[in-house]
Amino acid sequence: MKRIVIFASGSGSNAENLIRFFENSPDISVVQVLTNNPKAKVLDRCKKLKISAFSFNRIAFTETADVFSLLKASKPDLIVLAGFLWKIPENILKAFPNKIINIHPALLPKYGGKGMYGMHVHRAVVENKETKTGISIHYVNENYDEGALIFQAECEVLPKDSPEEVAAKIHELEMEHFPKVVQQLLQKQDKI
Ligand code: GAR
Repeated sequence: MKRIVIFASGSGSNAENLIRFFENSPDISVVQVLTNNPKAKVLDRCKKLKISAFSFNRIAFTETADVFSLLKASKPDLIVLAGFLWKIPENILKAFPNKIINIHPALLPKYGGKGMYGMHVHRAVVENKETKTGISIHYVNENYDEGALIFQAECEVLPKDSPEEVAAKIHELEMEHFPKVVQQLLQKQDKI
């Protein structure tokens, strides 16, 4: 069984979508969700979906080996950042080479980097009168949103679109593509 660990910081709609997509899979399963936000809605979702979930603080993430040990014990084949807003520390990056991926709600390299997350991205896209935007799924390295691209999908931005309308289009793309890309990556790791 291939094992996925998800990191999320907020609502967790992507985490829930991944959990549901794989819930009846014979060979892939989401085993754990980790969050840096003890009030994140993703924790309520996990409770309902009966998925093990933990929250942690910055000390446990970057100064002690608490989160690192938890991750090691979970033996993930893939670590998926789904709306997770902290940088991944070096010890975790080194321990899981090519096994950490992120989803970003824009067409990287545009609209990436520190502070570019969620509605901030969609507002910037509308302010700059972009005619298209999209999602990017990429490997995670030591810089925000800079690892190698795995997949992108686009949508149109119409002149009348508000940031909220752009967010809804992005949400649709994320719901459709993210689980399939995760599945393909795991199947490629060593043909299941
Ligand atoms: C998603 O749109 C994801 O692409 C974005 O946060 C949202 C999380 O929503 N991630 C970033 O902006 C990372 N820079 P969710 O909590 O409902 O899955």
